Amino acid sequence: MIEVRGLTKKFGAVTAVDGLTLRVERGEVFGLVGPDGAGKTTVMRMLCTLVAPTSGEARVAGFDVTREVDQVKDRIGYMAQRFGLYGDLTVAENMRFYADLFGVEGEAALTEQLLEMTRMAPFRDRYAAQLSGGMKQKLALMCTLLHKPEILFLDEPTNGVDPVSRRDFWVILRRLVDGGLTVFLTTAYLDEAERCGRVGLMHGGRLIRVDTPAGLKQALPEACIEVRCGDPRAARALLRGMDGIASADLTGSALHVFVRPGGPDEEAVRAYLAGRGISDAQARRILPSLEDVFIATIRGEAAVHAG
Ligand SMILES: Nc1ncnc2c1ncn2[C@@H]1O[C@H](COP(=O)(O)OP(=O)(O)OP(=O)(O)O)[C@@H](O)[C@H]1O
Ligand SMILES: [Mg+2]
Repeated sequence: MIEVRGLTKKFGAVTAVDGLTLRVERGEVFGLVGPDGAGKTTVMRMLCTLVAPTSGEARVAGFDVTREVDQVKDRIGYMAQRFGLYGDLTVAENMRFYADLFGVEGEAALTEQLLEMTRMAPFRDRYAAQLSGGMKQKLALMCTLLHKPEILFLDEPTNGVDPVSRRDFWVILRRLVDGGLTVFLTTAYLDEAERCGRVGLMHGGRLIRVDTPAGLKQALPEACIEVRCGDPRAARALLRGMDGIASADLTGSALHVFVRPGGPDEEAVRAYLAGRGISDAQARRILPSLEDVFIATIRGEAAVHAG
């Protein structure tokens, strides 16, 4: 559904996207993650024909994003990071507005179906301005789905949405994907990235890893040890000075410590802390979270670029 080769976008001196190469198959849920300014929105806007690439090429649903703009547009739905809903129109009126915009015919039946699916039917006459954040996102999604796209582009679709509504949103997405839709999304939430079939890690305009969430975790060369103790900040300072430790960072009340290959094991970490006045430390080997992988990967990239 998506085929990208060497896709690059420069804004003056800024290279927002740098030689991106990627394939996304039909029916996949692909998630792009990366820090602010990594280039995620720019990738999406190029794939949606809204920004012209500086170089490289991209095909979406088999069509070229620069030469076959209309064919691409007919087949995609794009929910922008700030999707334009009209606050002074109701839910149903917003949907009618977008149906007109897309030239959708017989939209009434589809509107009903979408309202049912998203459990928004009771709110059809509520002004968009009065909806909760999660409901606004559902409405934006419904508007995006009105012209029956083959592929859905969602730019941070659940940003600022409470966890329950986010779960709701994902139940809806899952059903759409089961019905054959392809989804390409960006997210700042790494638990959300875990729900994707494959994830691309983007940093400084470059795609530095692409794999399944499980694959990304297994590929991490460093081991992850969780340390709990009464004074995690003191433990962090000590561990950052220990040989073989790549990093030690607080994750909630625990420390996540990355150990280079051949570095200390959990028992050595515990003994090291005990020998330096922290006698209550518990250390155990854990499977890294996607957040751990992400931080470790970005740290590795930064080190490479620092020479
Ligand atoms: N229209 C533009 N003109 C100039 N620079 C731009 C433009 N759009 C994006 N950029 C720059 O390109 C880089 C990538 O921006 P982009 O919005 O794609 O990042 P992002 O990964 O979506 O970030 P965020 O997580 O904050 O949404 C940034 O340095 C940004 O300032
Ligand atoms: Mg963005």
